[in-house]
Amino acid sequence: MSDHQVMFTLDDSEQVTHWYNIVADLPTPPPPPLHPGTREPVGPDDLAPLFPIELIMQEVTGERYVEIPGPVLEVYQQYRPSPLFRARRWEAKLGTPARIYYKYEGVSPAGSHKTNTSVPQVYYNSLHGVRRLTTETGAGQWGTALAYACALFDVECEVWQVGASYDTKPQRRTLIEVFGGTVHRSPSRLTESGKAFPESHPGSLGIAISEAVEVAAQDPTSKYALGSVLNHVLLHQTVIGEEALKQLAKAGESGADLVVGCAGGGSNFAGLAFPFLREKLAGSQSPRILAVEPSSCPTLTRGEYRYDFGDTAGLTPLMKMYTLGHDFVPSPIHAGGLRYHGMAPLVSHAVHEGLIEATALHQTECFEAAIEFARTQGVVPAPESSHALAQVRREALAAAESGEEKVIVVGLSGHGLLELGAYDAYLGGRLEDDALSDDALAAALAGVPQV
Ligand SMILES: Cc1ncc(COP(=O)(O)O)c(C=O)c1O
Repeated sequence: MSDHQVMFTLDDSEQVTHWYNIVADLPTPPPPPLHPGTREPVGPDDLAPLFPIELIMQEVTGERYVEIPGPVLEVYQQYRPSPLFRARRWEAKLGTPARIYYKYEGVSPAGSHKTNTSVPQVYYNSLHGVRRLTTETGAGQWGTALAYACALFDVECEVWQVGASYDTKPQRRTLIEVFGGTVHRSPSRLTESGKAFPESHPGSLGIAISEAVEVAAQDPTSKYALGSVLNHVLLHQTVIGEEALKQLAKAGESGADLVVGCAGGGSNFAGLAFPFLREKLAGSQSPRILAVEPSSCPTLTRGEYRYDFGDTAGLTPLMKMYTLGHDFVPSPIHAGGLRYHGMAPLVSHAVHEGLIEATALHQTECFEAAIEFARTQGVVPAPESSHALAQVRREALAAAESGEEKVIVVGLSGHGLLELGAYDAYLGGRLEDDALSDDALAAALAGVPQV
């Protein structure tokens, strides 16, 4: 390795061939999801109307590794391994002795990590002749990734996009349509879940999930795909961390001291962090592992760890997770993908067990860090990813004070080239920080079922 190398990739022989399942190594088992009606643990039959059997088995498996099917690996090869970059120019700008590495998922066809799971999800559905997949999307990254994968495997794609994002990010909608998907503003008039809200409502991921689940559950030729939260989604994302471990070794590092990712539903964070957590639990590395969320949707830092629905209408199983309440509608910040009331049960469990930490940041600080990053590294981060970068900036500046030479690995989950409206608002001084009041939080939590 030269003293100036900034990009670390992998040879063909080093390609990741298996997803990693953290459940096999957790010191305590995560609590099971419960049926919304009976409140008994859900079984495969309960999930069959929504998901193909392979994904249901991945949802409940205790196996440590799951082989990635050949047709999925073929699509991964189009953009994986994603590069691990050393952010040397940003380090210099910050005057930090910390060595900062970022794992860049923006190289995927959809521009984010979401393709890592959309491709296997559509592939497994295609094996069963599923005609159509329905889904929700926030800022539009997940909808784009699913539409792209559906185009590859000849499946129709119907997307309910959170109203606030639908109104402000029309290019994402166009991109979904370019890939062959259909987009509805949520809340729509097409579902009972949507009709429960006025048409002009800004929407939420919880409402959009209800709409997509409702439509899939009523049509035997359709199934539903979720872009985050569930165990099988997190499993698919572990290609990120598995590659990063190998690339970090190639960069000459013996391990990470700090691993940071942004967390909306928890999938890109878990994808990067869980392989590092495996190493930590095995005693071969000892990184701090840190999830970063927005102050206006502070699920891990101010929510409660209890059973709640994954959607607003209460159609999904009850999951034990940190939640702000399934009725919670976050303020319309630009990181649309981080506006989710809950958090992946596996991430929630790991936080609750003290294996990983969480913190929350305001969006203006995140945009400030993102601009600095763009001007030194040449990558415009997705507003979601900027949360992870802003925390890294804090840590790197603290290292500059203390003189600590730590190794930081950060997940850069996507690019923000279709989010320039958000950057325009920041540069024009029109972005505001909207903290969640204790009263609003208490009101939202009051709706969580007693289990
Ligand atoms: C670029 C990007 N990063 C992060 C997220 C947050 O989702 P998750 O926490 O599941 O990674 C999203 C969600 O839409 C996203 O588009």
